[in-house]
Parts: sequence; structure tokens; C-alpha cells
Amino acid sequence: MRNPVQDYLEQIVEQCGAAGGEVAAYIPELAAADPDRFALCLATVDGQVYEVGQAEHRFSIQSISKPFTYALGLHDQGVETVARKVDVEPSGDAFNEISLAPGSGRPKNPMINAGAITATSLVAGDDEDDRFGRALDWFGAFAGRELEVDEGVYGSELATAHRNRAIAHMLREFEILEDDPEEVLRRYVRQCSIAVDTRDLALMAATLANGGRQPRTGRQLLEAHLVEHVLSVMTTCGMYDAAGDWVSAVGMPAKSGVSGGIIGVLPGQVGVAVFSPRLDAHGNSARGVALFERMSRDMEMHLM
Ligand code: DON
Repeated sequence: MRNPVQDYLEQIVEQCGAAGGEVAAYIPELAAADPDRFALCLATVDGQVYEVGQAEHRFSIQSISKPFTYALGLHDQGVETVARKVDVEPSGDAFNEISLAPGSGRPKNPMINAGAITATSLVAGDDEDDRFGRALDWFGAFAGRELEVDEGVYGSELATAHRNRAIAHMLREFEILEDDPEEVLRRYVRQCSIAVDTRDLALMAATLANGGRQPRTGRQLLEAHLVEHVLSVMTTCGMYDAAGDWVSAVGMPAKSGVSGGIIGVLPGQVGVAVFSPRLDAHGNSARGVALFERMSRDMEMHLM
């Protein structure tokens, strides 16, 4: 028997076709992506997954890593230590803006690069490999399977990461970073290069929707009170300088990445993920935004 959720998702994918935009070109490996690939997945808090399109096609997670690294920083260091290093104010700027508070150097929020590099520095561990290994295991635990780094994307991004390198060194100058900025930069770029598929992202989002418990494995990964902190910054800062439009039109915590993914979290209900590499002027997946707007309207997902 046909499932009405599946039927609905197939119908809106048909109706919200190509939405224009360009594939990200500043990382050479990303410029080679097929612009017309597409997937939509929805994972419920009881572990049911619905998918349309190429749900098992893998791509680098990019900035969708940021809420999960921030979560690990909170889990390792606690709210107060993290808050001393990175604020939770929307910046209204692009993701790669060199926006550090005058005087203190404290980044505006953990969703822009400056704040995400800071959050990366807060992951605990004995050395670079141990810290990165913990992050990789953490992401894998949210997805419910072991994940790997796309080494091609990693090498390509690290070789061209001049702006992020500058940000990391500025953060070190302000003593926001206490470690070697090159080590933190490598881990930041590596975690952006973790390969995921749309189904993984939906389950990662569903774990946040489920109060930090992975719906399929049943493991409590993130303390429920910390989930609130992560969802709050996703709501106010997850879509960068489009955050206001997003909250008006979609109204749920979300995060986008330049490879074309977007996740959205409806607490207590579902995690949603879309993959479509053509980006709008804010660097968010154009078809992804269109689909989220449509789902929010039709399914009354708007939380405000
Ligand atoms: O820092 C960067 O440039 C990338 N690794 C991540 C950027 C990203 O995904 C921005 N999101 N839309």
C-alpha cells in the first residue's frame, strides 16, 4: 500500500523543480559536482526514513558540520567555557566574514567560519588525530554509521583555505584559539570534508529533533539541555545573512552547507535533509530553500 508521506514528498519534489543558482566554485573539488543531483529525506524521531531521489549519493558535509562540532564543544567543555570563546548573536554577514568582536576577538556565533573554527578548537583530545577521531566518531554516531573523510575535497580545500587560515591566525592573536592555528584549521577543513549522504543528514537532524538520542541506535549522544543551545543558534544563525527570511518563511532551526545540503529540525517530530548543489546568492541550496518553504507551509512546520 502507498504511504501518504512518501506520496506527498514525491509530489512536492516534482512540483519544486530546478530553482536556478550556481554550484560553489571556490573549492575546486566542489565546482566539479553535478548541479542536477537531488535528494530529499525525512527521518522521524521513531526512526522511520522516507526518501526521494539519490538519497545515498555522498558529498562533503561542509558547514552542516558546524552545529555538530558546536554540540561536541558544549559536551566536552560545558556551556560557560564555550560561551567565553564564542557568542550566540546573529552576524547578518556571509559565512566567511572575518567578523571578530573588536577588543576581545570573540566570534559572533558558531555558525560562521570564525565561530566554527573556534568550536573546533574546543573539541577535547590528546593530539590532532585523537581530537579529529573523536569528531569523526561523534558525527558517525549521529548518522548511525561509520563515516569517512573525502580526501579529495580535504586536499582541495586546504590548498585554497587562505581566508580561513587568516581567520584562524587572527583568532590565535586574540587568544580565542589557545592551540596552534594550523592544527585547528586542518581539523576544521577535515570535518567539513566528511562524506555523508542525504539519509545520514536526515538522521543527524532527527537526533537533534529527538532531544539528542539517535532514533535508530537509541544512543543518547548529546545531553537534552545542550540540544536547546544548538537549536537556538541554528534558528538565529544557521542560514547566515538569509536567517531572517528563513525564520519568516520556514520557521525551524536549520543549517546549510556549500556543497548543497540543508538540514531542518522539527523538535519532537522529524529531521529533514535536502541535497541540491545549485546555490542562491546567500550560499544556500536554491531548490533546498524552495522545498523547505513548501513543506513548512503544507505541513504547518513553522514553529513561531
Ligand atoms: O569554510 C568553508 O569555506 C567551508 N569548508 C564550509 C563553508 C560552508 O559550507 C558555508 N555554507 N554555506
